[in-house]
Amino acid sequence: MADIWHDQTAGTWLLQTRSTGYAFGLADSGAALRHLHWGPGLPAAAPAALLAEAGGEPPRWERYRSSARERPDEYVPWGGLRYDEPSLKADYADGTRSTEWRFTAQRLSRPGASATLELDFTDPAYGLVTTLAYRVYDEFDVIERWVVLRHGGDQPIVIRQAHSANWWLPDRACWRLRYLHGGWGAETRLAQVTLGPGKLVLESRRGTTSHQFNPWFTLDPGGRATEEGGEVWAGALAWSGSWKLVYELTAAGHLHACGGCNDFDWSHRLMPGDRLVLPSFAALYTDAGFGAASREWHAWVRAHVIGRGDRTGLAEPRRRAADASGARGPGSSGRGPDDDGQRLRPVLYNSWEATSFAVSQGGQERLAERASRIGVERFVVDDGWFRGRDNDHAGLGDWTVDESKFPLGLAPLIKRVNDLGMSFGLWVEPEMVNRDSDLYRAHPDWVYHFAHRTRTEHRNQLVLNLARPDVADWVFGQIDRLLAENNIEFIKWDMNRPFSEPGWPAEAGRNPERIWVEHVRSLYAILDGLRAAHPGVEFESCSGGGGRADLGILGRVEQIWTSDNTDAWDRIAIQEGFTQVFPPQVMMAWVTDSPNWWTGRRLPLRFRFHVAMAGALGIGGDLSRWTEREMTEAAELVTAYKVIRPVVQQGRLYRLASVPADPYGAHEYLSDDGTQVVILAWWGPSSCGGGRPPLRLAALDPVARYADADNGQQYWGAELLHEGLTLPGVRQDDFGSALVRLARRS
Ligand code: DGJ
Repeated sequence: MADIWHDQTAGTWLLQTRSTGYAFGLADSGAALRHLHWGPGLPAAAPAALLAEAGGEPPRWERYRSSARERPDEYVPWGGLRYDEPSLKADYADGTRSTEWRFTAQRLSRPGASATLELDFTDPAYGLVTTLAYRVYDEFDVIERWVVLRHGGDQPIVIRQAHSANWWLPDRACWRLRYLHGGWGAETRLAQVTLGPGKLVLESRRGTTSHQFNPWFTLDPGGRATEEGGEVWAGALAWSGSWKLVYELTAAGHLHACGGCNDFDWSHRLMPGDRLVLPSFAALYTDAGFGAASREWHAWVRAHVIGRGDRTGLAEPRRRAADASGARGPGSSGRGPDDDGQRLRPVLYNSWEATSFAVSQGGQERLAERASRIGVERFVVDDGWFRGRDNDHAGLGDWTVDESKFPLGLAPLIKRVNDLGMSFGLWVEPEMVNRDSDLYRAHPDWVYHFAHRTRTEHRNQLVLNLARPDVADWVFGQIDRLLAENNIEFIKWDMNRPFSEPGWPAEAGRNPERIWVEHVRSLYAILDGLRAAHPGVEFESCSGGGGRADLGILGRVEQIWTSDNTDAWDRIAIQEGFTQVFPPQVMMAWVTDSPNWWTGRRLPLRFRFHVAMAGALGIGGDLSRWTEREMTEAAELVTAYKVIRPVVQQGRLYRLASVPADPYGAHEYLSDDGTQVVILAWWGPSSCGGGRPPLRLAALDPVARYADADNGQQYWGAELLHEGLTLPGVRQDDFGSALVRLARRS
């Protein structure tokens, strides 16, 4: 069980997770909190000894010889001889721009299967109270941190930089950083770099999580960790707006990873009595490699993040919209405690690649009939269903059904879809507006803009200012109405452009720079409110593909659209990066047509299915053009997916091999009880006649027998672990794939 130990005499705290430890302690008579340890578990008395070793000395900000072991500030208020990246920077009304504080209070609580520690540090001169919050979870090694700023003074304070967490790593000779980067159609690809002295900043300034970088990392000393072993420290920020993560090897030789909401162009004016809750930043340590880190993220995200709503109070003040519709109170998602993270994802059909904007009742019904024939469980109408939306130049903002396409509204189509045994889902992009829309004509001031400056369009659209309470209420009202009037069970929430001209002229002089954070808090509050008011509805996060994939949005959705690139060969790398942190269950993956609309690549239907079956399976091809043979094969593969679905979506993922480094890419999914094994493998053309050796499996019991569910062949676990499994069809060249199911027999 996770626990938090406080040694009152020494002034230290120890956070104990399932198998790791994290410690810090007070120094300088409570004026500082020093970081002491993050790594393997510690005895309860160890933090006091670690603090004593530091000799009570303040940390040195430059490297020089000393016998005492220095301990850096756990969270760094800017001031004094501090030249490294600070955690907190504030301006006070009299011109003072540095912060000094004193430890004033602690609170320990045990909500559910977790323990939370809050430490208050108060600046006695100005009344700013900074609460450092920590949460540890039973059965997990994840530590979640966040910060709350409360103003107990009487003059405004301007917050210029405020990180969610500052993670210190132990001193090691050299560090490798791994992170996810990409672009539209190429999201979440793994990159790595060796960190040297100085600072590496990865960020989004786009108002959303972004396609370019994702706020997740791993750090391993000397680049020595592998998929199967070695020490790994990993972190993920739960924030869906502009963010900044800094990896800095300080002049004193310590490495820290710190960050939160991006401070670029942002400031937040705290008035007396106000509070600002910063997003949570989770992290973990393991000595069992990148694979173990991923599995820990997956299990924790399923248990504690998906659809859980707000865990820190971040969106709480903006719940007006939810309250207006009679939704339940703050902190409640309106759903049962075990619901969202544990529910299997239905097989989904989405018409976007088939029809683009040319949707119609007849066309969608014909696709729905074909989809139900192959076993689809949820039918989703994408963009193009609302007034004026014949292309991407018009319509966004006017969320009423286009009667030329759906003469009697959506109801007849929804009924047909339901009669075919499927639930109905709908695409929306509520944060956006086209100039050519009734909404923009009525409210041109509702978009972010600067006076006397161009309103730069992207995909012909502008971004609504969700920081405005009237706009937030309007957005909530539009989607609330759609959900109230129709039997919609799934919403795909898209966001197709980044911010530009992030202004709010009416607020000039009243801190319009707060929009960067307020937009996201408002978005969260709207989603929390909709989920509470419509507990039967599930949500998908989409942002021109995978531009909004993070632990913050995952608190409000059941799944994420991974990428607009549906070429299965490209998807392997995108999915490999995505599943470093996000569980396969939330990774929406469609089987689309061949040749692929974007890359032109031709891939066998089976191959396309096997790649999409590595996550939450969807179909996105033009089923009206699939041959009867393809329809039959698709139905068989959907049936096969439904059999393996619980293991793929909720089992433990072992990445056995990766292309292009290995001759094939292969995943093993193992049920929690170890009795069910699913192997998915994919390979491209071989070169120079190079063979593909048997695939060695992982985490099996060497002395147990495992039987192939298709041909009955039995193997010893030891054989599969050491000799390997010969994949069916592995001799086939040019984009082959395999699905193998093994069941433990003894
Ligand atoms: C971008 C999404 O990623 C696509 O799947 C599709 O929904 C389009 N937007 C619709 O405009």
